[in-house]
Amino acid sequence: MVNKKSYFTFSCIAVFFFCCAHQVEALENGLAKTPPMGWNSWNIFHENINENQIKGIADAMVSSGMKDAGYIYLNLDDNWMATSRDANGKLRADPTRFPGGMKALGDYIHSKGLKFGIYGDRGLRTCHHYHTGPVGSGSGSFGKEQLDANTFAEWGVDYLKYDNCDPSPGSNMRQDYERMRDALANCGRDIVFSICAWEFQPWMPAAGNLWRTTGDITDKWSSSGFFHGIIECIDKNATLATHAKPGAWNDPDMLQIGNGGCTTEEYRTHMSMWCIMASPLIAGNDIRNMSQTIKDILLNREVIAVNQDPAGIQGTRVKASNGLEVWCKPLGSVNGTTKAVALLNRNGSAQSITVNFSDIGLSGTVSIRDLWAKSDKGSFSGSYSMMVPSHGTGMLKITSGPAEPISAFTKIEAENFSLQSGIQTETCSEGGENIGYIQNADYVVYNNVDFGDGAESFIARVSCGSNGGTIEILLDSLTGHLAGSYSVTTTGGWQTWIDVTCTIARITGKHDLYLRFTGTDQYLMNINWFHFDSGIVGTKQRAVTVRKGDFKTETRNGAITITPLKHNRYSMSVFGSDGRLITIRDNMVDKVSVPVKSRGIYVIKLSCEGHVETKKVSVY
Ligand code: GLA
Repeated sequence: MVNKKSYFTFSCIAVFFFCCAHQVEALENGLAKTPPMGWNSWNIFHENINENQIKGIADAMVSSGMKDAGYIYLNLDDNWMATSRDANGKLRADPTRFPGGMKALGDYIHSKGLKFGIYGDRGLRTCHHYHTGPVGSGSGSFGKEQLDANTFAEWGVDYLKYDNCDPSPGSNMRQDYERMRDALANCGRDIVFSICAWEFQPWMPAAGNLWRTTGDITDKWSSSGFFHGIIECIDKNATLATHAKPGAWNDPDMLQIGNGGCTTEEYRTHMSMWCIMASPLIAGNDIRNMSQTIKDILLNREVIAVNQDPAGIQGTRVKASNGLEVWCKPLGSVNGTTKAVALLNRNGSAQSITVNFSDIGLSGTVSIRDLWAKSDKGSFSGSYSMMVPSHGTGMLKITSGPAEPISAFTKIEAENFSLQSGIQTETCSEGGENIGYIQNADYVVYNNVDFGDGAESFIARVSCGSNGGTIEILLDSLTGHLAGSYSVTTTGGWQTWIDVTCTIARITGKHDLYLRFTGTDQYLMNINWFHFDSGIVGTKQRAVTVRKGDFKTETRNGAITITPLKHNRYSMSVFGSDGRLITIRDNMVDKVSVPVKSRGIYVIKLSCEGHVETKKVSVY
């Protein structure tokens, strides 16, 4: 196994090396861990924006369901500002179109539970002012980066799109963007930094959370020149996949979905491909008036979940011939068992597209869900074909392994997850693998776990070389029912294993099981395996004797006594009612007495030659 100490040593050496080489790999400002989602004014309104219209958009983001689906940023684009600055040299809102000013507009946006995005420029004037405005209007931030960043912070800005027009003579693009990056870092507010310089440059991941990889998108399937069609944006952005990761995204420009220049199938391709490529989803239509067809595209949560997958891997084209393409975005981790697949038809007529599972790193039987049809297709092996309309895209979620449920009562190897958020697997000292490198807010998902008539306790083999953290046992989603939780504390080492258990609110039937981890240390715990138990034997009595095979358990005089009824070697763990391990004894043959300090309910786990009994006793 990779021992954590040597991992840290390696990290320190690596950090030292990279610092000395003056290379920072990514911005790491902690923001935009998944591709930003929101709305921007440019594609539909261009320079014609005003306060009431934007407030109406804020209202519609809530009432249309956009906000609930994850579209959280409301971003003003070019021309929100007056053509001149105020007496103190500060940017100010256009007094006619935004009479209430930007702070009040930001407050309104925040009051709707949304975040406030704004637009700026690294040169002397913004693009619109450069093309139409008076010379020297000063709407660009060149040389005034800190003043402008501070002004944005005062207004409650959460996101800055920073454009590339009218550079100051002799200025340097990289330095201009880096000055604004540093100004934002010093402005006292978390502000996502969106670089808009129309093509990728290698320094960008260390300067921004996202960077435009293309000229401006236009509302067409195909277009050449500075204005790119959907298909040109896809092709250009596709070449840069290796640069994308949580907090750092390739941006093939904002969505044109719903603006009328493309067919429904083309808009479906627009959405599918932005999701497969982990691209920012910034809607650009008039969401105050959306048809049901457009809503169904923008608000398909299963497709959005592909985009927002926490692993943040940009999908790539794995096969292309005769205008028919197969794209794959691994979900959860690069080598995990779940993949999102897009089947893109660039041709003028409907065609059948086949995905070979070997091309997406899966083997054996897989189960398939069609994300646009929102239906399970069943189990397949080898390959799967579907008819895709002209300029359309099929979206599939393909998971290896049969769709049959896993029993909650048999040992589930922790590494057999369907999805995870950033943890890793490693060789376990007990054989096989365990999950590790678990950080705060990480999670693992096990699909279709069958709890039968009822599970009432959770048992896990864990290790922990830090102060530990909490395992939350959730059903069906990260916001689903919390059945119970267990706080793991140190076991003395990252490969020192103990079994822990806790009671949970009874779970019955089949569920996707989510284990989510919280804690403040860098790494929280490792897990080798876990399972559930159908209740705990014994009831609340003064002294409980339980016979269920191999052991007798009694409580007397402040001690729990365990008597083996057969003379085989056994091991025993005693837990408090909060699930904390009190003692663990291995390799025993005879009766044992465990003194307990306080009254309460204790859980005893006994194992002997593979047979495990769990007993619950009450000490008065
Ligand atoms: C540039 C950007 C666009 C938009 C306009 C506004 O062209 O690339 O996205 O912000 O400026 O003028």
